[in-house]
Amino acid sequence: MVLSFSFFSLMASAISGVAAERLCTNGRLFVADANSSSVHYFDLDGELEALTSTGKLLDGIAEIEGQAIYSVGDNEIAIVHRGVETAMYEDGSIYFYRAGTTLESHGDHVDVQKSEPSELQNAKINCARATHIVDHDDKIAVFCDGYFNPDPSQAQVNTTVYVVDKTLFSFTAEPTAIAHSVVLAGSHHGVAIPVDDDHLLVSVALPERVARVENSSALPNGFVVQDYNGNLLHNLNVADDKDRSCVGFHGSAAVEGKLALGCDSSHGGILLVDYEPTSAMYTSRSLLYPNGFADHRVGSFLEHPRARHIIGNFNSDLSFNMFAFDPTLESISDNHMLSLPAKACSSAYEQAEAKVIFTLLATGVVQIYNNSDESFASHVGAGMFVLALCVVAMKI
Ligand SMILES: *[C@@H]1O[C@H](CO)[C@@H](O)[C@H](O)[C@H]1NC(C)=O
Ligand SMILES: *[C@@H]1O[C@H](CO)[C@@H](O)[C@H](O)[C@H]1NC(C)=O
Ligand SMILES: *[C@@H]1O[C@H](CO)[C@@H](O)[C@H](O)[C@H]1NC(C)=O
Ligand SMILES: *[C@@H]1O[C@H](CO)[C@@H](O)[C@H](O)[C@H]1NC(C)=O
Repeated sequence: MVLSFSFFSLMASAISGVAAERLCTNGRLFVADANSSSVHYFDLDGELEALTSTGKLLDGIAEIEGQAIYSVGDNEIAIVHRGVETAMYEDGSIYFYRAGTTLESHGDHVDVQKSEPSELQNAKINCARATHIVDHDDKIAVFCDGYFNPDPSQAQVNTTVYVVDKTLFSFTAEPTAIAHSVVLAGSHHGVAIPVDDDHLLVSVALPERVARVENSSALPNGFVVQDYNGNLLHNLNVADDKDRSCVGFHGSAAVEGKLALGCDSSHGGILLVDYEPTSAMYTSRSLLYPNGFADHRVGSFLEHPRARHIIGNFNSDLSFNMFAFDPTLESISDNHMLSLPAKACSSAYEQAEAKVIFTLLATGVVQIYNNSDESFASHVGAGMFVLALCVVAMKI
């Protein structure tokens, strides 16, 4: 049997400690089998060589091989199958599970209580090509890209967005935890972020993409914040206003009411959106990329409720960087920037305390960065692990 797992799930789970209260599986590692529909889990608090023998099985999920696994906070995971192209991705599915580890406080120490992982049956979703899954404000938005087909005589699957209310999760099928769903015009590769009850920030396809023009870009044209009835609350789709647009969007972060959207180099920066819940007002502004970094852009962010900074990657084809910023920052300067020795395959905040960042480089080296001082990352260790590939395959 060959198991493949992402760097994220391995690192995120393996190093989390008992001090964690949220956002971590407390040492339980979930691994999807590349050759069957099984998802295994391993308790990593024993001897590491016991990894292969302590595996247990969640079996028969969706009958699909090699699913993706995401941590969606508060001890829950999402098991995602994006679907296959020949079925226009309509066989895609998302299952939510409680990880089965809870913390019991004994004053001076905390014990981890373990039970079997169980399916949260009232949030099962079928949709085409779920790619971005965003956990914010006790809700999870699932953005299903759909299937684009420029031939108008043939079928296309529009983008659909689902919002799951985590406070309604249950082990029984009814009542549903799906608080909202909406079909968008066209099919594109975008994102939705739950901002507040009944408020959803959601990307909008390019007009030519909606018109099904061949080879039109899958990336969003901009964003809108709308309520569950589709009323516009804030327009972030104003082409010539850098403070209200985000061309070529890729990558988002949401920490409390502050949202960051990564835009391409022709937009020239990040779009920061600030939501004030008491007045239900939105403001937005662009945080421009620094000079001297032609053709660089942000493509993904790291965030954590315990971290003071949002981390962005900042790459061109030839140069690879990370930078850290507080959402109140007015301008990004060189001393927010950290140059990486190689392209990063992926990075993750340590889940329990968010005091360090792990970065897996394409060279196979994991670097660990300390993010507690003002000037961002001072390098605390390198080469702790050497992995051959970005996705590890392990034979058992
Ligand atoms: C598992 O799948 C991989 C990739 O498709 C294949 O190379 C390998 O032979 C399969 N292993 C088994 C045991 O079926
Ligand atoms: C799907 O998108 C098209 C535009 O591409 C739009 O005309 C149609 O109304 C959408 N379908 C639904 C169900 O919203
Ligand atoms: C779209 O892209 C394909 C592949 O690159 C190319 O063969 C085709 O001519 C393009 N079509 C248009 C209308 O540009
Ligand atoms: C991280 O940096 C801070 C401030 O410089 C320092 O106090 C802390 O000990 C460092 N942590 C590690 C793990 O090196």
